[in-house]
Amino acid sequence: MVTFTTERLVLREFQPTDWATFRALEAEPALYYYEPAAPTETDTQAYVERAQAEAQQTPRTHYRLALTRLSEAEVCGRVTLAQLNPAIREWEIGWAVHPRLWGQGFATEAARALLAFAFAELRAHRVVAFSHAENAASLRVMRRLGLQQEGLLRATRWWRDAWSNEVVFAILEQEWPL
Ligand SMILES: CC(C)(COP(=O)(O)OP(=O)(O)OC[C@H]1O[C@@H](n2cnc3c(N)ncnc32)[C@H](O)[C@@H]1OP(=O)(O)O)[C@@H](O)C(=O)NCCC(=O)NCCS
Repeated sequence: MVTFTTERLVLREFQPTDWATFRALEAEPALYYYEPAAPTETDTQAYVERAQAEAQQTPRTHYRLALTRLSEAEVCGRVTLAQLNPAIREWEIGWAVHPRLWGQGFATEAARALLAFAFAELRAHRVVAFSHAENAASLRVMRRLGLQQEGLLRATRWWRDAWSNEVVFAILEQEWPL
């Protein structure tokens, strides 16, 4: 079980009492605008169950954490860190914040805490992030964190009745902290 506290946020394990606010968050259409589909209630239930099961793993390979503001206990986002390729100590990071809180730096603040954990505690060599190539807000978060674009995966996402591209960004252990 992990908890990270930043200037304005707490990143913590999901709790049974999070269900209603987390489902409301996941039901926000803006959160899934760049995804092929939005999650059903069953998908969200499965997500929370996986998150709770992963919290018991040793060694742990997935961190799906709830994001709350210091001033409010309700879940206002989620961040993830998942082992991709253990042979090269590679992890993948991801984020989502409630649309009413966009533009205040919460995703960047949360991801920075998770990157610090990945490099300092998990001894990550690389941390990568994938995004729909047109997801400008997410691309800005990646760049602000110091991730660099490494590639463009062509036509890997079926989105709005057409194929879309995806970008791959990464930051290396020697590039952290900025
Ligand atoms: C991706 C996502 C988390 C970005 O949210 P965001 O609010 O734009 O990103 P941040 O929390 O880092 O906020 C950054 C913005 O807040 C501003 N800001 C205000 N105060 C700030 C502070 N203290 N620190 C940093 N930035 C601050 C920045 O200037 C920046 O604005 P800009 O992007 O117009 O330059 C959000 O769009 C989202 O949840 N999308 C849906 C899920 C998703 O697509 N996830 C990624 C899948 S790959």
